[in-house]
Amino acid sequence: MKNKILNIISSSAEYISGEEISNKYGVSRTAIWKHINALKQEGYQIESFPRKGYKLIQRPDILLENEVLTNLNTSKWGKEKFYFLNEVDSTNNYAKKLASEGKPEGTVIVAEEQSAGKGRLSRKWISAKGKGIWTSFILRPNILPNFAAQITLVMAVGMIKALEKNLGVSAKIKWPNDILINDLKVCGILTEMSAEIDRINYVIVGIGLNVNQSNDDFPDEIQDSATSLKICLGKEIKRVQMLQVILEEIEKVYNLYLEKGFSEILDEWKNNSCTLGQEVIVKMPKEIIEGMAIDIDSGGCLIVKDKENIIHKIIAGDVLV
Ligand code: BTN
Repeated sequence: MKNKILNIISSSAEYISGEEISNKYGVSRTAIWKHINALKQEGYQIESFPRKGYKLIQRPDILLENEVLTNLNTSKWGKEKFYFLNEVDSTNNYAKKLASEGKPEGTVIVAEEQSAGKGRLSRKWISAKGKGIWTSFILRPNILPNFAAQITLVMAVGMIKALEKNLGVSAKIKWPNDILINDLKVCGILTEMSAEIDRINYVIVGIGLNVNQSNDDFPDEIQDSATSLKICLGKEIKRVQMLQVILEEIEKVYNLYLEKGFSEILDEWKNNSCTLGQEVIVKMPKEIIEGMAIDIDSGGCLIVKDKENIIHKIIAGDVLV
């Protein structure tokens, strides 16, 4: 009923009286008033005047189900199941629970704030309230587990397309899955999987996109390496619209990957890479490799040729340029 009331007041430029809503939906004036208050609590600005009724003044830029699903142009993503959480430890952890309960591919989880956001290699991901897009998706791809690393690259290509389409921003991908603007990190992707030897149960893709932070919002230790869309573009960015475009672009790229395979996506990844063709230092837990980043293989591994012309195939590590 709350959503019906929201729809009726948002479809009218004028005041809608309590009587009109009550007649249309057969609810009492008190019930309407309670739903209106709940909407105000969620962040909708609604004016109410005795004898005139209610008028929607402004929608909130909060990633509420109703906001994100209105005019969302996907076939499955977000529409299967959508979970909005005010606060959670990590949307990836929440998604794992839902996936193990059997929730389908295309399920989307978003949180306004994460108290224990996770990054790659057991790092923390700072996820301040309302400043970014902290989201996870459940996938159930019919591929062998040893190809799962491709999914991260597929998602990175989707993110590049979404940033270009929504904001005209030309971002770059730093292997394996950092999205950079002006050489600073604006987005990270964390892919986790549950699988048996020959079958994937589910893949969770978590995306953290810095949207409306100022430089001071980042902790000192990442101020020199992190950025946000607001810092890059000099204006506040609407998170709802950004998430809609992300879901649309990622669904398209993912479907293309499932239908046509990895090679087309890999080409796009390479075209948008800022790692390939560079002299790099790759830090791994037990060694450091220096050399030229010459390629990415079909498993998503970085291929580095060192000074002795020895070829290294790197599965996981941190690239320093
Ligand atoms: C990285 O670059 O290290 C990956 C960062 C991934 C952060 C996102 S935020 C939403 C999702 N939930 C998490 O706990 N992590 C991912």
